[in-house]
Amino acid sequence: MLETCVNRLVVVGIGLIGGSLAAALKQVGACREVIGVARREQTCLDAVRLGVVDRAVLSIEEVAGELTAGDVIFIAVPTLTVEAILQRIKRCVSPEVTITDGASVKGSVMSAVAAAYGCLPPQFVGGHPIAGSEQSGVEASNPELYKDHRVIITPTPETGDEHLKRVVAMWQVVGAEVLSMPVEEHDEVLAATSHLPHVIAYSLVDTLAHDSENENIFRYAAGGFRDFTRIASSDPVMWHDIMKANKDSVLTALDLFSENLHRLRSAIASEDSEHLLGVFTRAKAARDHFTKMLTKQAYSSSMQDQEITYTVKPGGSVSGELRVPGDKSISHRSIMLGSLADGITEVEGFLEGEDALATLQAFRDMGVVIEGPEQGRVRIHGVGLKGLQAPPGPLYVGNSGTSMRLLSGLLAGQSFDSELTGDESLSKRPMNRVANPLREMGAYIETAEGGLPPVKIKGGARLKAIDYQMPMASAQVKSCVLLAGLYAEGETRVTEPAPTRDHTERMLTGFGYPVQRAGATASLKSGGSLSATKIEVPADISSATFFMVAAAIAPGSDVTLTHVGINPTRDGVINILRLMGADITLSNQREVGGEPVADIRVKYAPLKGIHVPEDQVPLAIDEFPALFVAAACAEGKTVLTGAEELRVKESDRIQVMADGLVTLGVRAEATPDGIIIEGGPIGGGEVESHGDHRIAMSFTVAGLRATDDIVVKNCANVATSFPTFIELAQQAGIHLAVSEA
Ligand code: S3P
Repeated sequence: MLETCVNRLVVVGIGLIGGSLAAALKQVGACREVIGVARREQTCLDAVRLGVVDRAVLSIEEVAGELTAGDVIFIAVPTLTVEAILQRIKRCVSPEVTITDGASVKGSVMSAVAAAYGCLPPQFVGGHPIAGSEQSGVEASNPELYKDHRVIITPTPETGDEHLKRVVAMWQVVGAEVLSMPVEEHDEVLAATSHLPHVIAYSLVDTLAHDSENENIFRYAAGGFRDFTRIASSDPVMWHDIMKANKDSVLTALDLFSENLHRLRSAIASEDSEHLLGVFTRAKAARDHFTKMLTKQAYSSSMQDQEITYTVKPGGSVSGELRVPGDKSISHRSIMLGSLADGITEVEGFLEGEDALATLQAFRDMGVVIEGPEQGRVRIHGVGLKGLQAPPGPLYVGNSGTSMRLLSGLLAGQSFDSELTGDESLSKRPMNRVANPLREMGAYIETAEGGLPPVKIKGGARLKAIDYQMPMASAQVKSCVLLAGLYAEGETRVTEPAPTRDHTERMLTGFGYPVQRAGATASLKSGGSLSATKIEVPADISSATFFMVAAAIAPGSDVTLTHVGINPTRDGVINILRLMGADITLSNQREVGGEPVADIRVKYAPLKGIHVPEDQVPLAIDEFPALFVAAACAEGKTVLTGAEELRVKESDRIQVMADGLVTLGVRAEATPDGIIIEGGPIGGGEVESHGDHRIAMSFTVAGLRATDDIVVKNCANVATSFPTFIELAQQAGIHLAVSEA
């Protein structure tokens, strides 16, 4: 028997909502007695017969005298009947008894409470379980109804603490997640998400039912009709009450919808494909995202709360031919430049990871019609350099530093205000490296204290070109300044202290926008335009790295990674692994859409420790976590210097890797600008990825050479860059199991 959180429960109204709570509390044994109150004798008999309640009575007065502190009355009647019930409760129930309700509208319930009591008594706690169904009546009672569903409670300053705690505990014990919200907010949110859909469903079915052909319509109305109109079978009285009780909020939502529907009608009438595709692609993306969020596969602000743990069994080898997903850097840029181009840009091989999707969503939010992604294919209806529109709110780019930094440059040149926000990890990453040069160009740009996100940009600045000497080797900073340069008066020049990835320059050229490159300086002038093109995104060498290292460290391995981008500004991992003795061959080398690609074959060969040449650092900047694992498996010492940039990536990759390696029994020592790793046996243990995708994947690969299980915590963010990692790793031969808490 569970600890009782409610002494006695009295359910007033034993329908789907009341009956289900009664049945659930009985089932978990969290209540001494459940009493039902129903208007009709038959309902009382049925409720007892079905075991939903212990006993049932016809009026609250019959049991009121028995009720004391610790007891709860749950009012589960149609919204407009709540006041009459409260009037009766007020007359006969003691102030110690907790009273709550399940009505869909909270404003009218609070008015009913105030009308009955002349005030808001501490014993009343407004509540609303978001768990109805189209079924109704006591027979529909289902003890599982609230499991994993949300219940919104709407406490006010008058609500008593004890009463509030009791109601929260009551819902939690039946498996619900309890959220708290102000009354007004609840009614607005529910008007849009629940009440409006019911109006539309009822209206659609009624419209079709009146059609003279209705027999036929209903006979042939299959999937779509059935899915869309399920809720039109809901209890009519309940929904009648809800519409009246939440009239103002429902009307606001309905007006907005009518306006949009009217616009859609005009678009159909005028065959305006752009508008139709715009609405449909945005809606599909939103709905798909929502579905993924519900199944916890998509990035959302709550993603970090998801505990995804990888457990890697020791040993094994990797083999086969693998195609890893599209290049992240190129995918971001394809959306950005495709959006700014004139005409339709078609992209293939687009990375459907959360980071690139964040960029895609940002441009949708700025009015760009983007079809897909559908198996890596995206069609971007470019709006031209001046065609972006003000987004409806802050642009949330999740974990993606590339989105935030490149977009900062681009947004600095727009006529509208904008704000860029990110997740917990991104919110700790430095943005002054882009804000400072942009300010020099005349941008109005604000960050939070310490140069951290969010980044707020004021529109309408007149940018002027600068000649920028970058203090650090960063392609993100270079790209940001060049993108701002598209809108700046004069010639914008950026000089880098060491070569960094040049995808922006290459892709601008591919879109027909002239970019000059002379030594370490890239420059462009404003006033040009981009013409739509076709982009084939090669497989990401940064993702391929995990399998390259896997094959390099695990005896018996032989893996071929196909169609990988080997841009010379990105190929440091190949050079470094080769210096360590890895057996790597490139074949099928060709150029695709301005980027060199090849198939990369890696066979196991013993590795030795090296001092990593500093000129390779920017060329392998994202590959170091995996290279540290290679170093741990090499004979002798590996020393990395000149890599302080690693400390400001998705995590402090020097410290986090050093900590994890030490946990696994490897001798590793973090230094201010690098690391020293002594090769040797890898044990097992639990390591923390700190929500950094590349750390999570690197320790997964380490399992191949471990002597014991490696447990990697916090792996949800692998979806940001490598959504198919788990399947590919398992397919290749890594003994990886995934669990979710
Ligand atoms: C990227 C540049 C690199 C890299 C990041 C992607 C890009 O960052 O770490 O994953 O697409 O321009 P920095 O330019 O800050 O080194």
